[in-house]
Amino acid sequence: MIESIDPNEILTKYLTNSKRIAHSVSTGLFMEQYADVAAVDPKTAYIAGTYHDLAKDLPLEEMVRLSRSMKERGIYTIDYFDYKVNNPSLLHGVAASELLYTEYGVDDKSILTAIAHHTTGGAGLDNLAKWTFLADFIEPLRDFHDAVKIRKVITKEHNFGKALGLAYTSLLQNLLDKHRNICPESLDGYNESIYQIMDNQ
Ligand SMILES: [Fe+2]
Ligand SMILES: [Fe+2]
Repeated sequence: MIESIDPNEILTKYLTNSKRIAHSVSTGLFMEQYADVAAVDPKTAYIAGTYHDLAKDLPLEEMVRLSRSMKERGIYTIDYFDYKVNNPSLLHGVAASELLYTEYGVDDKSILTAIAHHTTGGAGLDNLAKWTFLADFIEPLRDFHDAVKIRKVITKEHNFGKALGLAYTSLLQNLLDKHRNICPESLDGYNESIYQIMDNQ
């Protein structure tokens, strides 16, 4: 049971970057603290948040190997797999989910799916996956302007739908400004969530 292991032991085994470890701890605690705003179980939220970036410091070949292995298990659908291999910054969530499954026996499909999708978001995801995508963006150590603004929508307004729509908007705006590729899953997540901003204005 992963709950019985000290998170620092797991995080320091795979992550070499101390800022990344701090971000992981902060995301887990933030997800747990505001789990009710996202209408998810706090303990499950804590696990998804704490370990979402577990594979981020692995060598690229290892990340791809782990991701292929998870794809073959077929626990959840991995859309745009080849696209993600070609844009490997999107792949570390899938690899983290395989690590948790094989090394720590995490077999909760909701947790594995949430971690796998945290880099892109997407449409048709459950609240845990939406919350993991959003909390990664706005956890308390994130200090850029949009993160601070959207974090308040959770902590002060308790408005999950609006915060999610604003996070997708910020993500896409940032990618457009930098002339970067946009994974179609992020666009699908934006289209699904944007109505919630309009509903809540
Ligand atoms: Fe990540
Ligand atoms: Fe992250």
